[in-house]
Amino acid sequence: MKTTSEAVETTRDKGTGEFEPRLLAFVCNWCTYAAADLAGTSRIQYPPNIKLVRLMCSGAVDPVYVLRALMGGFDGVLIGGCRPGDCHYQSGNYKARRRITVLQEILKNMGFDEDRVWLRWISASEGSQFASTVSEMVEHLRSKGPSVLTRNWDK
Ligand code: FES
Repeated sequence: MKTTSEAVETTRDKGTGEFEPRLLAFVCNWCTYAAADLAGTSRIQYPPNIKLVRLMCSGAVDPVYVLRALMGGFDGVLIGGCRPGDCHYQSGNYKARRRITVLQEILKNMGFDEDRVWLRWISASEGSQFASTVSEMVEHLRSKGPSVLTRNWDK
Protein backbone atom coordinates (compact mmCIF):
# COMPACT_ATOMS: atom_id res chain seq x y z
CA MET A 1 0.00 0.00 0.00
CA LYS A 2 1.30 3.45 -0.91
CA THR A 3 1.77 6.22 1.61
CA THR A 4 0.16 9.56 0.87
CA SER A 5 3.54 11.01 -0.11
CA GLU A 6 4.18 8.19 -2.60
CA ALA A 7 0.72 8.62 -4.08
CA VAL A 8 1.34 12.36 -4.49
CA GLU A 9 4.73 11.75 -6.09
CA THR A 10 3.19 9.31 -8.55
CA THR A 11 0.56 11.89 -9.45
CA ARG A 12 3.23 14.49 -10.06
CA ASP A 13 5.22 12.24 -12.34
CA LYS A 14 2.29 11.61 -14.68
CA GLY A 15 1.38 13.69 -17.70
CA THR A 16 3.72 16.53 -18.54
CA GLY A 17 6.00 15.91 -15.59
CA GLU A 18 5.58 19.53 -14.54
CA PHE A 19 4.76 20.39 -10.96
CA GLU A 20 1.05 20.48 -10.29
CA PRO A 21 0.16 21.65 -6.78
CA ARG A 22 -2.29 19.63 -4.75
CA LEU A 23 -4.68 21.57 -2.65
CA LEU A 24 -6.86 20.37 0.22
CA ALA A 25 -9.82 22.48 1.29
CA PHE A 26 -11.73 22.24 4.54
CA VAL A 27 -15.05 23.86 3.78
CA CYS A 28 -18.05 24.79 5.86
CA ASN A 29 -21.18 22.88 4.86
CA TRP A 30 -23.41 25.97 4.92
CA CYS A 31 -21.34 28.43 2.90
CA THR A 32 -18.19 27.45 1.08
CA TYR A 33 -19.32 23.91 0.29
CA ALA A 34 -22.54 25.32 -1.11
CA ALA A 35 -20.49 27.83 -3.12
CA ALA A 36 -18.40 24.98 -4.55
CA ASP A 37 -21.62 23.19 -5.42
CA LEU A 38 -22.96 26.34 -7.07
CA ALA A 39 -19.75 26.72 -9.07
CA GLY A 40 -20.22 23.17 -10.30
CA THR A 41 -23.88 23.50 -11.21
CA SER A 42 -23.16 26.86 -12.88
CA ARG A 43 -20.35 25.21 -14.85
CA ILE A 44 -17.79 27.72 -13.67
CA GLN A 45 -14.34 26.40 -14.50
CA TYR A 46 -11.65 26.03 -11.85
CA PRO A 47 -8.54 23.85 -11.58
CA PRO A 48 -9.11 20.20 -10.66
CA ASN A 49 -6.17 20.28 -8.22
CA ILE A 50 -8.43 20.56 -5.19
CA LYS A 51 -9.99 18.02 -2.85
CA LEU A 52 -12.78 19.13 -0.57
CA VAL A 53 -13.41 18.01 2.99
CA ARG A 54 -16.84 19.14 4.14
CA LEU A 55 -17.20 20.09 7.79
CA MET A 56 -20.21 21.57 9.52
CA CYS A 57 -18.30 24.76 10.38
CA SER A 58 -14.87 26.27 9.78
CA GLY A 59 -14.60 26.35 13.58
CA ALA A 60 -14.30 22.55 13.45
CA VAL A 61 -10.96 22.76 11.64
CA ASP A 62 -8.29 21.62 14.06
CA PRO A 63 -4.84 23.02 13.16
CA VAL A 64 -3.59 19.43 13.37
CA TYR A 65 -5.75 18.59 10.33
CA VAL A 66 -3.93 21.31 8.41
CA LEU A 67 -0.49 20.13 9.53
CA ARG A 68 -1.32 16.51 8.68
CA ALA A 69 -2.42 17.59 5.21
CA LEU A 70 0.76 19.59 4.62
CA MET A 71 2.99 16.80 5.90
CA GLY A 72 0.97 14.18 4.04
CA GLY A 73 1.59 15.54 0.58
CA PHE A 74 -0.63 18.54 -0.04
CA ASP A 75 1.09 21.74 -1.16
CA GLY A 76 -1.51 24.04 0.32
CA VAL A 77 -4.60 24.07 2.49
CA LEU A 78 -7.62 26.30 2.05
CA ILE A 79 -10.11 26.80 4.86
CA GLY A 80 -13.42 28.21 3.68
CA GLY A 81 -16.12 29.47 5.98
CA CYS A 82 -19.10 31.75 6.32
CA ARG A 83 -18.55 35.48 6.34
CA PRO A 84 -18.12 37.13 9.76
CA GLY A 85 -21.53 37.39 11.39
CA ASP A 86 -23.00 34.62 9.22
CA CYS A 87 -21.66 31.52 11.02
CA HIS A 88 -24.51 29.11 11.74
CA TYR A 89 -22.88 28.33 15.08
CA GLN A 90 -22.45 31.98 16.07
CA SER A 91 -18.68 32.25 16.41
CA GLY A 92 -17.12 29.23 14.69
CA ASN A 93 -15.54 31.31 11.95
CA TYR A 94 -14.02 33.68 14.51
CA LYS A 95 -12.49 30.66 16.27
CA ALA A 96 -11.18 29.44 12.92
CA ARG A 97 -9.62 32.82 12.25
CA ARG A 98 -7.82 32.82 15.60
CA ARG A 99 -6.59 29.24 15.19
CA ILE A 100 -5.36 29.70 11.64
CA THR A 101 -3.62 32.96 12.52
CA VAL A 102 -1.77 31.17 15.35
CA LEU A 103 -0.95 28.24 13.07
CA GLN A 104 0.44 30.56 10.41
CA GLU A 105 2.58 32.27 13.03
CA ILE A 106 3.90 28.90 14.26
CA LEU A 107 4.69 27.80 10.70
CA LYS A 108 6.48 31.08 10.06
CA ASN A 109 8.53 30.83 13.25
CA MET A 110 9.55 27.27 12.36
CA GLY A 111 10.83 28.46 8.99
CA PHE A 112 7.99 27.06 6.93
CA ASP A 113 5.89 28.92 4.44
CA GLU A 114 2.77 30.12 6.22
CA ASP A 115 1.40 31.43 2.95
CA ARG A 116 0.42 27.89 1.94
CA VAL A 117 -2.50 28.08 4.35
CA TRP A 118 -5.34 30.37 3.33
CA LEU A 119 -8.51 31.21 5.20
CA ARG A 120 -11.27 32.71 3.08
CA TRP A 121 -14.88 33.67 3.70
CA ILE A 122 -17.00 32.49 0.78
CA SER A 123 -20.76 32.49 1.14
CA ALA A 124 -23.19 30.06 -0.47
CA SER A 125 -24.11 32.43 -3.30
CA GLU A 126 -20.50 33.05 -4.32
CA GLY A 127 -19.75 30.20 -6.71
CA SER A 128 -17.60 32.43 -8.89
CA GLN A 129 -15.72 33.64 -5.80
CA PHE A 130 -14.99 30.02 -4.86
CA ALA A 131 -13.72 29.25 -8.36
CA SER A 132 -11.52 32.35 -8.51
CA THR A 133 -10.09 31.64 -5.04
CA VAL A 134 -9.15 28.10 -6.07
CA SER A 135 -7.61 29.35 -9.32
CA GLU A 136 -5.67 32.05 -7.48
CA MET A 137 -4.38 29.64 -4.84
CA VAL A 138 -3.35 26.98 -7.36
CA GLU A 139 -1.47 29.61 -9.37
CA HIS A 140 0.15 30.91 -6.18
CA LEU A 141 1.28 27.41 -5.18
CA ARG A 142 2.47 26.63 -8.69
CA SER A 143 4.74 29.68 -8.55
CA LYS A 144 6.09 28.59 -5.15
CA GLY A 145 6.82 25.01 -6.17
CA PRO A 146 6.50 21.89 -4.03
CA SER A 147 6.26 22.30 -0.29
CA VAL A 148 9.28 21.27 1.78
CA LEU A 149 6.80 19.68 4.17
CA THR A 150 5.90 17.07 1.55
CA ARG A 151 9.36 15.56 1.89
CA ASN A 152 9.41 11.91 2.91
CA TRP A 153 10.63 12.26 6.50
CA ASP A 154 11.19 8.50 6.85
CA LYS A 155 14.30 8.61 4.64
S1 FES B 1 -21.25 27.54 9.94
FE1 FES B 1 -20.01 28.26 8.31
S2 FES B 1 -18.25 28.97 9.33
FE2 FES B 1 -19.53 28.32 10.96
